[in-house]
Amino acid sequence: MRISVIGCGYLGAVHAACMAENGHDVVGLDVDRERIEALAAGVAPFHEAGLPEMLYRNVESGRLRFTTDPTLIADADLHFIAVGTPQLSGKLAADMSYVDAALETVIAHAERRTENPAAIVGKSTVPVGTAQRLMERIDAAGRELLLAWNPEFLREGHAVQDTLYPDRIVYGLPDDIATGTQARRLLDECYAPQLAAGTPVVVANYPTAELVKVAANSFLATKISFINSMAELCDATGGDVTRLAEAIGYDDRIGAKFLQAGIGFGGGCLPKDIRAFMARAAELGVDEALTFLQEVDAINLRRRYHAVELAQEAVGGSLKDKRVAVLGITFKPDTDDLRDSPALDIADQILGRGAHVVVVDPAAANELRRRRPDLDVADTVAEAATGADVVMVLTPWKEFVSLDPAELRPLVKSPSIIDGRNVLDPHRWHDAGWQYHGMGRGVSIW
Ligand code: UDX
Repeated sequence: MRISVIGCGYLGAVHAACMAENGHDVVGLDVDRERIEALAAGVAPFHEAGLPEMLYRNVESGRLRFTTDPTLIADADLHFIAVGTPQLSGKLAADMSYVDAALETVIAHAERRTENPAAIVGKSTVPVGTAQRLMERIDAAGRELLLAWNPEFLREGHAVQDTLYPDRIVYGLPDDIATGTQARRLLDECYAPQLAAGTPVVVANYPTAELVKVAANSFLATKISFINSMAELCDATGGDVTRLAEAIGYDDRIGAKFLQAGIGFGGGCLPKDIRAFMARAAELGVDEALTFLQEVDAINLRRRYHAVELAQEAVGGSLKDKRVAVLGITFKPDTDDLRDSPALDIADQILGRGAHVVVVDPAAANELRRRRPDLDVADTVAEAATGADVVMVLTPWKEFVSLDPAELRPLVKSPSIIDGRNVLDPHRWHDAGWQYHGMGRGVSIW
């Protein structure tokens, strides 16, 4: 098939590469010339395992092209919209201007066909009701284009795997049986390798497909905030939230995943998606249905404040002029993404209390140096930890989880460790002479 992917950010670049891997002829379109030049040279503009090799291979073969020229999308059978829907500044709602602009690009440049109309396929996370609105715009423009909604569930750090081997594929189709069936056939052909591998397909109408995505992210956010609220209870009672999570996780109905208490969730999706969902519910007059998400958000933000308070206590009550080593600054490991990173927020709050913050991160160091000259960025853990009054593990990169406390001990000024992700062995750190502070993790002999 001939496929266009509009928007070559995280979602679009990975989707374009994976669709070329599926055997299609793909053109990725973006307005960011620098990004397009990198992608066209087979270089991933962000850190994502497996992506550089896949980009290079498919660009080399000629199946994958990247461009800023919208006329090159004209002959595509499927036009994927994969642009961002960031949170509007000062509001909870999502900024839909990129989605609207992408639609106009397709309307303006997709070729006019007398039969076998092409389909526009929305992948961006959007407020429920968007597909209907876009369909009305397509009709008003007098274009014979099909429209389907096909949300994406990829996780950063696993984006290639998640796209090639998804848990499920969701098709949101129009209520009209004829155009719905046409769109479904095109999607089936596009995802033929995934369907052949037995991936379940859920077929639904537009609003359901749009809601699936925000419902999934809201559920994940709620699960994390739930366990973080239990961490607060554990802190108040001397309990250990890691044991608690293990014990409840054995129940299949609950499940052990996404029960890692710590400094909470961040990134480009979970925080903004739950806020946009609440904003949309308010517009629809059903805000009460999602009031609980306010609590989910509040618990999550409280974790960051709690980590700052822990650091302050650990250094004796005032952070002024103290040296704080921050290990990990991305919102999670295996990515260089700093969007709404809890670690960066905590580093900022500590900086705001007058401390000298030294950050080390395996993927984001250069970007951080460029964007944040006010933060001291070290190349190694040893460099960051030397002379530190407190060391904080805020992103559980493998190299931090496996640190040797005995080796680190002689470097620091004061052996105090804050385990912001509950990934270290408290006893091991204790035995090596450290004061260990977990998140809702009272240290017990058990
Ligand atoms: C998320 C969804 O998982 C994905 O399906 C969707 O398509 C996009 O949003 P992503 O943003 O890549 O993916 O991150 P995810 O792996 O979900 O982690 C989100 C945040 O939650 C991270 O900051 C992570 O550290 C945190 N987290 C995760 C916890 O604090 N505890 C956990 O148990 C799990």
